[in-house]
Amino acid sequence: MKKVLITGITGQDGAYLAQYLLSKGYKIYGTFRRISTPNFWRLQSLGIYSKINLIPADLLDMGSMLEAVRVSDPDEVYNMAASSYVSTSFEQAIGNSEITGLAVTKFLEALRVLRVDAKFYQASSSEMYGNNGCTIQDEQTPFYPSSPYAAAKLYAHGIVNVYKNSYNMFAVAGILFNHESPLRGMEFVSRKISNGVAEIAMGLKDELVLGNLYAKRDWGYAAEYMEAVHLMLQQDKPEDYVISTGEAHSVLDFVKLAFDIVGLTWKKYVKINKRFFRPFEVDYLCGNNKKAKRKLGWEPKIKFEKLVKLMVNEDMNRWKMFVEGKTFPWDAPLYPSEAKLITRSSEENINSKIKKLKNRQTQRMVKNGPSIKYK
Ligand code: NAP
Ligand code: GDD
Repeated sequence: MKKVLITGITGQDGAYLAQYLLSKGYKIYGTFRRISTPNFWRLQSLGIYSKINLIPADLLDMGSMLEAVRVSDPDEVYNMAASSYVSTSFEQAIGNSEITGLAVTKFLEALRVLRVDAKFYQASSSEMYGNNGCTIQDEQTPFYPSSPYAAAKLYAHGIVNVYKNSYNMFAVAGILFNHESPLRGMEFVSRKISNGVAEIAMGLKDELVLGNLYAKRDWGYAAEYMEAVHLMLQQDKPEDYVISTGEAHSVLDFVKLAFDIVGLTWKKYVKINKRFFRPFEVDYLCGNNKKAKRKLGWEPKIKFEKLVKLMVNEDMNRWKMFVEGKTFPWDAPLYPSEAKLITRSSEENINSKIKKLKNRQTQRMVKNGPSIKYK
């Protein structure tokens, strides 16, 4: 059975990738970081939570990454973790550079030092093209990063290539254009629109506040993009690929279609607030996926219209459930009992600690508490 390590398994892509690789018979290890409110809702709503071996690890903590690699001993590694929201990268440029950029070097070092001969996938981004003025972008198009996030992703993209060539690693970067789904984070514009429109249609809200309506993106469906990602690591040679639909639509197109689907007129509800504009905007992204079609045999089936419908309909279902008093997937119990957590407490070293506990003196201490001498 092939073993895989996925960082960022609690995120949109990590969850879909895990679901897909489970269907292919992989044993899945996924890293998650401790946050005050655990967020396994994506894994739970896909019904795969209990099938994942979860390892607590943070990309900022090299020790925990080394441990994740050691414990999982993977055949394939997918680095999906990043601080992925572009707006926040302007507010937290240093943290973003460390997580999205430098941490990738640390991860590659962990694989090198531990001599783990795994194939490595890096989640590169179309955001790296930035405002380069090109009307369609492919694997040869120059990059012109226009956010701290994009600059960090470009650094990571470069370092993956360095490790591939220096240490003969099977390391690949997928340059993925925007991909969305009902599991998308609520702050990204696609989900903000589908969720907002559903709330408005249900009479729970009366406005949707957005920023720049004229930016254009090449939006695809996340679940099928993960199939392309897997294919990249099944090739004979490590190469980078653009994954996209080849169609660009504006935020306004998304808004209009989403309101059409529920039979409402967007103009009545949409407000613009400068708060949602960026210091440096990427105006236009559209990817040429010919290489992926030719070499991977991959093609997107769900394009813009189907994607918007799928997202609006799912958000409508969720709000209907809410109104009926049923739970949302993200209301599921947070650490269900079926959790397969691999912590250092589940390791052999704890067994010896337990043995020591059997020692009579320790038993007495556990029973009576330690005898503390005061001066
Ligand atoms: P996402 O939903 O925001 O998921 C990001 C994941 O990274 C989450 O699991 C998050 O954990 C984890 N993470 C963040 N900081 C971390 C840290 N310090 N240590 C460990 N884990 C950390 O993003 P996504 O849409 O799935 O995207 C997956 C990857 O593809 C990202 O690298 C993203 O930059 C890249 N990408 C995405 C797109 C897209 O359109 N979706 C396009 C191109 C590239 P928490 O759940 O704890 O926050
Ligand atoms: N988030 C957001 N919120 N974006 C808005 C809003 C709003 O209220 N109003 C307009 N927009 C515009 C943004 O200015 C941007 O031009 C576009 O909608 C898309 O924004 P996001 O959905 O936040 O995605 P992104 O394109 O910045 O980044 C996503 O795609 C990248 C790949 O190109 C993220 O998934 C990145 O992680 C990914 O690398």
